[in-house]
Amino acid sequence: MYCWKSVKKVINSIILGMQNGNLVVVKKLEITYFNSINQKLIKMMENKIKGMKALMLLAAAAFLVSCGGGGAGGGDPVVDREYSGDGDDLERVKQEMVAPPMVPEHDQVAKGGPKVVEVEFEIQEKKMEIAPGDSIWAMTFNGSVPGPLIVVHEGDFVELTLKNPETNSLEHNIDFHAATGMMGGGDISIVSPGEQVTFRFRAHRAGTFVYHCAPGGMMTPMHVVSGMNGAIMVLPREGLKDEVGNLVEYDKAYYVVEQDYYLPKDEDGKYKNIATANESMIEMEKSIRTLIPSHIVFNGRRNSLTGKNALTAKVGEKVLFISAQANRDTRMHLIGGHADLYWPLGKFHNKPYVDLETWNIPGGSAGAALYKFREPGDYTFVNHNLIEAIAFGAFAVVKVEGEWDDALMKEVSKAGPIQN
Ligand code: CU
Ligand code: CU
Repeated sequence: MYCWKSVKKVINSIILGMQNGNLVVVKKLEITYFNSINQKLIKMMENKIKGMKALMLLAAAAFLVSCGGGGAGGGDPVVDREYSGDGDDLERVKQEMVAPPMVPEHDQVAKGGPKVVEVEFEIQEKKMEIAPGDSIWAMTFNGSVPGPLIVVHEGDFVELTLKNPETNSLEHNIDFHAATGMMGGGDISIVSPGEQVTFRFRAHRAGTFVYHCAPGGMMTPMHVVSGMNGAIMVLPREGLKDEVGNLVEYDKAYYVVEQDYYLPKDEDGKYKNIATANESMIEMEKSIRTLIPSHIVFNGRRNSLTGKNALTAKVGEKVLFISAQANRDTRMHLIGGHADLYWPLGKFHNKPYVDLETWNIPGGSAGAALYKFREPGDYTFVNHNLIEAIAFGAFAVVKVEGEWDDALMKEVSKAGPIQN
């Protein structure tokens, strides 16, 4: 978009220069106005200028294509970007939220110009079992941990309506890492029980970004580690690019977010069964200071993405894994697979890394990795601190169907007695 602006500037200055030149030519020729030879000359020069204009426009168009959506080396410096318009006059679309690990319906390559994407979140404070017998007063956006994934394109506006029903007991808000100003929206989105608020921000940076509740003071970390976080994916308008700059489209996308919980314990070392959301906040103020999570899980609770809830894919499918961790560093790994492409720290205008075994998700960020499954079987998707994965619960399973390919691995002989 910014690129188009600079191209327009170039075209305008070329046209302006030509028009000025044109005037000079015409004035000189006026002196011999009645000379028919010169009339022909004027015609010729006009045609020449027209031809030159067309050539210049062609060159400008080629430049526009070459600069694509910006990014490293794209001739579109991040710090020079300028924005105008507040989105009031743009087309509006509503995005229906879906529960994780699913992602809302979306185009990978944007159709048409920037839009205002309307999203609605209802805050739900609810008691939630996060492992057999262990429960927490979860703070949630739309009832799930994490909150739903939002998907828009770079240059779109996100218009969020945040509702805090009367039945809740606490004040909440939302801070979008994808937004600029006002504490990421946190300052203008504080809602008490019984209130709702609407605000709009321009999604002007491409990538995956965390959002979370941030009502201030100790309430901020406590709401975040009670589940009140999620992610937004801002796709480049022209779609994702691979390491050689070609469009790469995924067949499906999954949204897998790690959550660390700090359940308070009683004198016997058992997790407390807490009666109210308010009481939970008081108790948690002590337990989070240990910095030692009681649970580290994917998508809200232990085994949320295993067994009948396992993720699925087919051999040959390209799957985009969108991951996040709002509070704590983690490291994603697909056992038996890789990240074919991983956009550094989830930001799509960085050239993707290839062939990764494990990819970082620093606390307070979201990441995206794309993998084409090449062999069938069960793949475990883990936080590769394997203690956190197995002992705490930070793992998911991807069941992949399809034909086995000996070109990548072959069982030469089954396990049997050692032969000398
Ligand atoms: Cu909150
Ligand atoms: Cu934050």
